[in-house]
Amino acid sequence: MLIDGHGRTVNYLRVSVTERCNFRCQYCMPEKPFSWVPKENLLSFEELFLFIKAAMDEGVDKIRITGGEPLLREDLDTFIKMINDHNPDVDLAMTTNGFLLPEAAPRLKAAGLKRLNISLDSLKPDIAAKIAQKDVLSHVLAGIDKALEVGLKVKINMVPLKGINDEEIIDILDYCRQKGMKVRFIEYMENRHADESLKGMHGKEILSKIKEKYTIRALGREGASPSFNYIIEENGYEFGLIDPHKHDFCESCNRIRLTAEGFLIPCLYFDEAMSIAEHVKKGDVEAASQVLAKVLKDKPKENRWIEGEMEEGQEVSSRAFYETGG
Ligand code: 5AD
Ligand code: SF4
Repeated sequence: MLIDGHGRTVNYLRVSVTERCNFRCQYCMPEKPFSWVPKENLLSFEELFLFIKAAMDEGVDKIRITGGEPLLREDLDTFIKMINDHNPDVDLAMTTNGFLLPEAAPRLKAAGLKRLNISLDSLKPDIAAKIAQKDVLSHVLAGIDKALEVGLKVKINMVPLKGINDEEIIDILDYCRQKGMKVRFIEYMENRHADESLKGMHGKEILSKIKEKYTIRALGREGASPSFNYIIEENGYEFGLIDPHKHDFCESCNRIRLTAEGFLIPCLYFDEAMSIAEHVKKGDVEAASQVLAKVLKDKPKENRWIEGEMEEGQEVSSRAFYETGG
């Protein structure tokens, strides 16, 4: 079992396979970065898997593949199959923008992927195009349908933004309810890479939009997840709200992150990271595991929204979400 320096069991690994993306979401990567990580610095699937296998053998039983947009990485299904073949019981999920899913969903399912989180910020083609800076909606909706059709479990992420998609919260909620998918509303998180003019919505504001139509009841936090669940009394539908400005989920944090370049990141809210790249390139799993042990020992107790340390509106880390997969 992997235990961190504060006694928390770590069983959840998020693996970012690429920082590249085919969208330019205003809240994440509004402009193409000045330079991408050079291809030769990316770890191969074999190198990533060497570490993942060791982590699984030590107790990781939940893995999420993220990006950037993970489907831009060629042969992603072979990578998924490697993980699934090693332990078919692992809870294997991926976060995607959905654009390439119409073609990829059947291959992903066949390779052993179980769940998908798909970003959907608007059901209006022009608004979706404004946020992603590309005409994406028809592909994303077709991708969602394909994923459901092949039997993948799907959750939807929406980031409500003032004056952009804030009038669509109920529409997205109803759309997800009708399709049997859970939606999670994510508070916009300030970061230096995002478009400066964006204004996010507070959890309270999101909930009050929903209350214009429905009666809701708080259920509580979902396991170790930062998502707080609510139920709609009228129809029993459950949705989640993720408020990254809180820190009450830190106590049960069970996750670490691995980037495509081989950095292990103990907490999204801190710049600290340690590399396993040179070790896995040499096939030295032992040395990579030692780096993991060090990262776990030093994993921060909580993020920086503790009173006095941070102000809302201040960014938490200089790292981009597209490097770490959010
Ligand atoms: N604030 C909140 N959520 C974000 N995401 C990306 N950038 C941000 C941000 N600045 C989330 C989106 C997307 C997922 C990949 O990461 O919800 O669905
Ligand atoms: Fe790409 Fe996702 Fe970032 Fe949008 S939020 S730019 S889809 S990585």
